[in-house]
Amino acid sequence: NADPQLFALEPTATPLPASERQARLVDPGFGRVFTDHMAVARWSDERGWHDARITARTTLTVDPASSVLHYAQEIFEGLKAYRQPDGSAALFRAEQNARRFNRSAQRLAMPELPEELFVESCRALVRADRDWIPESEGGALYLRPFMFASEVFLGVKPSSEYLYMVIASSVGNYFKGGAPAVSLWVSQEYTRAAPGGTGAAKCGGNYAASLLAQSEAIRHGCDQVVFLDAVERRWIEELGGMNVFFVFADGSVSTPPTSGTILAGITRDSILRLLRDEGVAVREEPYAFDQWRDDAQSGRLAESFACGTAAVVTPIGTVNSPEGSFTIGSGGAGPLTGRIKQRLTDIQFGRAPDPHGWRQPL
Ligand code: COI
Repeated sequence: NADPQLFALEPTATPLPASERQARLVDPGFGRVFTDHMAVARWSDERGWHDARITARTTLTVDPASSVLHYAQEIFEGLKAYRQPDGSAALFRAEQNARRFNRSAQRLAMPELPEELFVESCRALVRADRDWIPESEGGALYLRPFMFASEVFLGVKPSSEYLYMVIASSVGNYFKGGAPAVSLWVSQEYTRAAPGGTGAAKCGGNYAASLLAQSEAIRHGCDQVVFLDAVERRWIEELGGMNVFFVFADGSVSTPPTSGTILAGITRDSILRLLRDEGVAVREEPYAFDQWRDDAQSGRLAESFACGTAAVVTPIGTVNSPEGSFTIGSGGAGPLTGRIKQRLTDIQFGRAPDPHGWRQPL
């Protein structure tokens, strides 16, 4: 059990005045508004985890030879604290993020963080900064736990020292203006992950490697890149930073399987559970890009959506590639996409019963 002294609060002496905080919460967008505090813990091979605390958010002093700056030994997570109808805050399936964090740590040859420490760091930070949860529709406090190699050494080996931190960001929509539907660009030249690689880990390097393809998407006027598998360049894997679902006219739903090259999204998993609860036929199976186009054109496919902690549930309107474009359904939000978004967010925001016990009050 987590020692309550873990992540004890050292409150900031200079919190942002309430009026300025409120001004920043009006239209926070995604990932630019940060709170007063942060969680920190250190690892060394000699001492294990130590020095865990919640402290004033501040800049870091990083030695230029810190190994993360050279060899990218870094992992992260993303989860949200949601404001509840009674004004309290709740996390959502944080233990799942803790587990995935440790799977990522294993893959990147980093020390694991006990699950209760991970969860307690998130709880303690939200308790300290609960006033930063926006009141606006769909707003939440996005938590970003991360860990990086801090040993000062240029040899290529697992670091002997790490810094674990959690920062918090008041957020609204990930896509500007809460886009009614996003457009995708299919990357033909670049892939995201290969079998045996780090695709299933949430490591910064995966996102670095996605940026050029994502820029290509933006250059073509699209919101997100979609990656195909690295071996056959045929199967749909995931988007730049979110999973993807397909909804068929016969009422069934599919999503690519977590076979090692895609991120096992917690939103993805929650949606699968909710659909199965409803009795929807759900398949985790590979889906070919050519089939996607043919099915969209024949009407066999009715809807597609992207999902993630940041993206929540976002309809996909059009898919574009050098060979042409196709529109999915009406090009806007379809009925199943709308319904599953409502069901998920009703649980997260405490507006509906929570049959699986996913909501975690502080
Ligand atoms: C999330 O949805 O939490 C993500 O990590 C996606 C992206 C912002 C990196």
